[in-house]
Amino acid sequence: MDCKKFVEEQISQIKQTVGDATAINALSGGVDSSLVTVLGHRALGEQFKTVFVDNALMRQGEPQRVVKTFADMGIPVELVDAREEFLSALAGLTDPEEKRQAITDTFYAKVFSRLVRESGAKFLLHGTILTDIEETIAGIKRQHNILAQLGIDPEEAYGYSVLEPLKTLRKDGVREVCEFLKLPAEISQRIPFPGPALATRIVGEVTRERLTTVRAATAIVEEELRDSGAFQYMAVLLSDRATGIRDNKREFGQIIVVRCIESTDARTATATILPWDKLQHICERIISEIDDVNRCLYDLTPKPPATVEYI
Ligand code: XMP
Repeated sequence: MDCKKFVEEQISQIKQTVGDATAINALSGGVDSSLVTVLGHRALGEQFKTVFVDNALMRQGEPQRVVKTFADMGIPVELVDAREEFLSALAGLTDPEEKRQAITDTFYAKVFSRLVRESGAKFLLHGTILTDIEETIAGIKRQHNILAQLGIDPEEAYGYSVLEPLKTLRKDGVREVCEFLKLPAEISQRIPFPGPALATRIVGEVTRERLTTVRAATAIVEEELRDSGAFQYMAVLLSDRATGIRDNKREFGQIIVVRCIESTDARTATATILPWDKLQHICERIISEIDDVNRCLYDLTPKPPATVEYI
């Protein structure tokens, strides 16, 4: 692919389409929305606003780290604290699809639509890639049309337009353009992380306390497996409990699952054959550093039948 030509064409198209108006995008920290942020900023400068929504479901220090990565590139990102809104939408929900729906609805119908309205932007830049479009058509993915998600009828809300500068690229193309633009490796080489974030790794209700537990376990697993070369690795909090003994006292503690997979596109996956001493070390850290966790399991299941995430 001719990356230089791609970047020049997209920047000129964004400039031409937006003209004197303003545009907005939501940055998740993932590679697609990161590239859109860089292209939008290069094309529009101060006519472009980027928001990062803290949904309470992010990893340890993630919102601040993403904002700093972009600040270091001279790109301002507004950090929006929507933690309460997401946590209250998730309260009491245990069904996986209901949890996912609550997160989607809170993001689009409440938080992002309010930010778009308040910004006065007439254009939304969105990191849709070719695979998203194909998977929507094939019925694998839920609707990715951002205007539909925002509940905006383009006819009625005349003036709103969505630009999808990455819609001809697949993931490898997106990474190639990121490398061409010399974006930091923490963007271009980032391991996949789902939009609903840590909620996909909590079986049962998502609460502040349970997020603290899975967040701490995630930090340990990511630190320990960073150099594993695996496709993706994570920690999951189960809703079951198990009996254990700590300090001579019986406790009915929590259970963390460690999952680490080999894959090329996440459609199929196998468990990584990790060295036993590495697994033991991770287990040791999880049960000693995290309150109330007294069991740690390693997931050996391939996809299919298991999915990568737990909800
Ligand atoms: P599953 O769990 O479906 O995951 O086997 C396959 C890949 O997709 C990621 N994933 C998501 N990514 N939004 C995303 O952006 C989501 O809702 C979502 N669910 C799963 C998962 O991390 C894995 O890489």
